[in-house]
Formats: sequence, C-alpha cells, structure tokens
Amino acid sequence: MPEVIIVKNEAEAGEIYARAVADLIKSKPDAVLGLATGSSPLAAYQALAKTVKDEDIDMSRVRGFALDEYIGLPLSHPESYHSTIHRTVVEPLGMNPDLVHVPGDVLDGAPLEDGDKLAHAGADYDAAIEAAGGIDVQILGIGTDGHVGFNEPGSSLASGTRIKTLVEQTRVDNARFFDDDIDQVPTHCITQGIGTIMRARHLVLLAFGAGKAEAVAQTCEGGVSAFCPASALQMHPHATIIVDEAAASSLRHKEYYQYAYTHKPAWQGI
Ligand code: GLP
Repeated sequence: MPEVIIVKNEAEAGEIYARAVADLIKSKPDAVLGLATGSSPLAAYQALAKTVKDEDIDMSRVRGFALDEYIGLPLSHPESYHSTIHRTVVEPLGMNPDLVHVPGDVLDGAPLEDGDKLAHAGADYDAAIEAAGGIDVQILGIGTDGHVGFNEPGSSLASGTRIKTLVEQTRVDNARFFDDDIDQVPTHCITQGIGTIMRARHLVLLAFGAGKAEAVAQTCEGGVSAFCPASALQMHPHATIIVDEAAASSLRHKEYYQYAYTHKPAWQGI
C-alpha cells in the first residue's frame, strides 16, 4: 500500500512535496510533472515555487501533463482546468507554457457531440505522455467518493484517458467554482484513466480535512475496488499519501504509519 505520512498542516505537506520535486528537477532538468487542480495541491505548488526561487532552480525545460478537464468549457473560461493549471502552477513556477498540456487543450470547448474531436482525444493524450517518456511525479487530490482525476466510482482500474460522465456529488462539490449554480457545472469531462495514472513513476496524493477521512481509509486500508478508484494506489510500487490528522482520523493503523515515518532514514526520501 502507499506510504502514509501524517503532517500538521497543508504547508508541511507542501514542503515534503516541494523537496522531492526540487531534487528531481535538479537531477533531471526536463522532468515530467503530473499536475492536478483542486484545493489540495495548492500549498504544494506554493512551497515548490518558493523552493524554486530560494534555490534558483531552472524550470524552463520542465514539462507537465494535467489530469483532467471539463468538456464544453472554452480554454479561456476562468474555471477551465486549462486556465486553472496555468494560473496556479505554470505562472507561479515559471514553467514554459508550451511544455504544459491539459487533456482538453485540443478540444478548446468542443461540445460532447463533436465526435470528430472527442473520440481520439484520450488515446492521443496517453500517446503524448508516453512520447514524453512518462510522468516522473504525479500529484493527486482525492474526491470525497474516492475519485482521482475525474475517475468516479466504477471506473476501470486499467482505464486510459477518456471521456467520462461526472457523478452528481462531484458536480455539487464543484458548483462552488460556478456561482454555486450546479447547472453551470459541465456534465462530462476528459480524464487520465486509472491505468494512465498508475504508469507514473511516483504518485503523491494529498488529502486534508475530516471530509476526506473515509475516502483516505478506503484508499489505504479497504479492498482494491473500482468503487474507490484511489484504492488502485495499493498496487503502485511507489505511492505516497500525505494527510493531516483530520484526514487520517479513520485509519486503523495510524500510529504505525507515524512510527514508521518518524523512524525512516533520511536518505530514503519519499
Ligand atoms: C476535482 C478534481 C480532482 C480533485 C478533487 C478534489 O474533482 N477533478 O482532481 O482531486 O476535485 O478537490 P479538492 O482538492 O479541492 O478537495
């Protein structure tokens, strides 16, 4: 199962992610980062931006692939994941925007009915990731129902990038970004599949707050099941879950995870 690291707060989680990614970029200046939207990764991006500045790290060759995008939103829409990734990651980190890809980039708001554009977009995206040599570190959040990217419960654990239908709860959760109006939240998305995510060499999942406790417990200690897509991480050779006390509160082996991390030799990193 993934290594579980329990931290005081999001800032501490951010520093752990930033250290690992900064060291990666120093040794591989054209590293490929897997990027995610949502509130959970924000402190990690901020910490990485600070480390990049403090340690004068060259970001100009670092490449990026985002997890997902809504169908039907123009790229210029402030809540498109294209806009969000560029605002929260590309600009603060000083990445070259031409080297950062979001699955909807080629669709540019094309409607669900536009099969000519949509039918091959997922396979093309997976091929682009592979052509880049694969993702080195994929950052992940988690939905309250255990979704990662937009892989809702029931998603194939072997899936590639494809068009999916959002569940009602995800649209309710995300209505806060659309004037609290669920009717403005798109019904469909394009998302890296669980199989795509599992091919990244290192997965770092961040979860904070009591609302994520059940999803975190199912992910780490429940059975591997398409009904908790994040539980696929149990099958990944290098996955790290960083949580605060509230998100860790339903873990049965919480004390053991804390003990193991406290006694881990520094040279192992995460
Ligand atoms: C959305 C995104 C996910 C994200 C989830 C949780 O559904 N597609 O990638 O993990 O929200 O978001 P947050 O981190 O804001 O709780």
